[in-house]
Amino acid sequence: MLSVEVAVPESASFRPNPRFAKAYLRVAAKAEARGMAEHRRELLADLAGAVCEVGAAGVARAAPVRIEVREGTADMLPVEDASCDAVVLSLVMCTLPDPAATLAEVHRVLRPGGQVRFYEHVRDVHRVVAVAVDLVAPIWARLAGGCHPNRDAVGALTSAGIDVSVVRRFGFSPQRGIPPTAHVLGRARGVLLT
Ligand SMILES: C[S@@+](CC[C@H](N)C(=O)[O-])C[C@H]1O[C@@H](n2cnc3c(N)ncnc32)[C@H](O)[C@@H]1O
Repeated sequence: MLSVEVAVPESASFRPNPRFAKAYLRVAAKAEARGMAEHRRELLADLAGAVCEVGAAGVARAAPVRIEVREGTADMLPVEDASCDAVVLSLVMCTLPDPAATLAEVHRVLRPGGQVRFYEHVRDVHRVVAVAVDLVAPIWARLAGGCHPNRDAVGALTSAGIDVSVVRRFGFSPQRGIPPTAHVLGRARGVLLT
């Protein structure tokens, strides 16, 4: 398996937030032990061939496969047309400035019949919780590197014409003291639905 990982360079439209990046790595290390490592195994299970993971630079070094890191942004993936057997989106759709543009790119780089695997935190299906998260979302985005905690990742995939076949929904708390938030983990095919 070859994994191509797209890491976003600093640019006029993207300013890294080093404080959040450091905090994210600290929380992620704890979250891995609380179940995230198992989620990632499920996300990647049985993938083979060329896999493009969008925004994965932080975890790339730990993977036991050949990895190529390419600088680029999700709305212009530095990957050839129809060259990927799978595209992986892991905890990244919340931060994308233009999810629809990224999903158009996903279509472009996937070979016919290629897979999309996704693992995202999303808007809660319970209305009261969802509205409460909506209220804190603007502040959260400022503190957390542009993360929008209330996006509907599955809806975005479906609206982009990506055929979602498996979705597992669950609550996950990355760290003791943080309440569980809604997550989805699933599989899709990159066919354009008409
Ligand atoms: C919360 S981190 C998730 C990292 C990793 N995918 C994971 O599963 O732990 C969000 C990632 O999205 C990346 N990102 C944000 N905006 C991006 C963009 N426009 N293009 C590509 N990657 C982007 C960030 O650089 C960061 O690595």
